[in-house]
Amino acid sequence: MFEQNFNENNNNIIASSENDKSEIKSKKIKRIILILVILVVILILIITLVLVLKNKDKDEPNRETVQDFVVKGIFIDTENFDKLRIRKGFILVENGIIKSFKETNPNESLKLYDYSDKLILPGLIDLHLHAPQYPNCGIGLDLKLLDWLNNYTFPEESKYSNLTYAKKNYELFVNDLAKTGTTRAVIFATIHNEATLLLMDLLEEKKIFAYVGKVSMDRNSPDYYIEANGAENTEKFIEECLKRNYQYVQPIITPRFTPSVSDSYMEELGLLAKKYNLSVQSHLSESKFEIELVKELRPNDSFYAESYDKYGLFGKEIKTVMAHCVHSPDEENDLIKKNGVFIAHCPTSNLDLSSGISPAKKYVNQGYNIGLGSDVSGGHSLDLFEVMKYSIEMSKLRNIYIDTSQEHITLSEALYMATNKGGSFFGKVGIFENDYEFDAIVLDESLVKNYKEFTESERLERFIYNKNAKIEAKFIKGNKLF
Ligand code: GUN
Ligand code: FE
Repeated sequence: MFEQNFNENNNNIIASSENDKSEIKSKKIKRIILILVILVVILILIITLVLVLKNKDKDEPNRETVQDFVVKGIFIDTENFDKLRIRKGFILVENGIIKSFKETNPNESLKLYDYSDKLILPGLIDLHLHAPQYPNCGIGLDLKLLDWLNNYTFPEESKYSNLTYAKKNYELFVNDLAKTGTTRAVIFATIHNEATLLLMDLLEEKKIFAYVGKVSMDRNSPDYYIEANGAENTEKFIEECLKRNYQYVQPIITPRFTPSVSDSYMEELGLLAKKYNLSVQSHLSESKFEIELVKELRPNDSFYAESYDKYGLFGKEIKTVMAHCVHSPDEENDLIKKNGVFIAHCPTSNLDLSSGISPAKKYVNQGYNIGLGSDVSGGHSLDLFEVMKYSIEMSKLRNIYIDTSQEHITLSEALYMATNKGGSFFGKVGIFENDYEFDAIVLDESLVKNYKEFTESERLERFIYNKNAKIEAKFIKGNKLF
């Protein structure tokens, strides 16, 4: 009996201990599975984070937004064209606006960007460039303007009817523009509304201020690149821009140039500029062949600019920028000055397309509104330091060969055009002055290092003349792009 009980008990004990064992085993398995799941989740999170950070580095250089801050460095700007202003100290920025310059830190509790021994310039302003021509930089330059347009420019621009092509090229353009010293730009796109809006979306995303024009052209253009209902397209484009409520980019009326735009279309564009209170951009007196063509098309005008002025597309209450003005006669210059029209001086383009040598020195010294333009891809580079260098060098050639009474453009005049004067197209922009918007670039001179001691002005001059120069940091209205 006892033995029987014992055996039963024993059997029960064995059974229950086997149950316990299998329970422990299954618990163990569950725990291992749980740990494995957690490890896999952590691994996925790490991989995602690495990929996101990698992409961020590739496309966007470490964007950072700080409301109020102080910047320390050596600030160089131009109150006037004739002299560089060089000041070491601190600039206080509130909400993107310059509040003060001081020799000591005005507010120790704010974030300090310390660029102690670095040169800091106002952001550079590109008053004239063609974004869709970016793939053509540095090619086709054995041709002159009109042949270059027909053989290189129109075929390239026509490709932007394809949004996939437009997206990949405009992304590259905007990313590359963001890396340069340019903080604001006035840009030609193409005749295509959708692609132009896409370009505007990309610039807006990067927080780069820009005027962007859907190009207008309805005559003397190839069949594959010409508008049928130009004014209607242009108004649709403007309406869509208004709907998108952009903060950084805005539309600008853009007749390509008189040879490409019929009188009736010019008239409609003038009405649209007035109706929507928009600015205007175009080309003027760039090359002698172009001027001859305009004379044939409009024999009753006294000079080229009348073909814009007669339709309300030439300054006064309509803010206007005209690229080039290399060969403008005196009456045209008088009207440019009287109407406050901005000249976008594009010396790289004027040499690359053999257009001529602008009297830019005279424009600067006589108080015209004159800024600089890269005119990509008539000009071979987006880099406005390159454009500054050409403005100086080309004016020397003009002084030697064309007009010995006019000296060459100086370093301060080149910077003045690229910052102060160009900036005034955008408002209170282009100098480090109270109430101005804080656009600034910090120069990285590490690649042009030298053991000689240089003055600040010499450091700037070397930077302009040296291809290896890079930008270390860039602010647009207080927003730090990198
Ligand atoms: N005139 C008309 N179109 C153009 C253009 O795309 N570039 C230049 N430089 N001049 C022009
Ligand atoms: Fe141009």
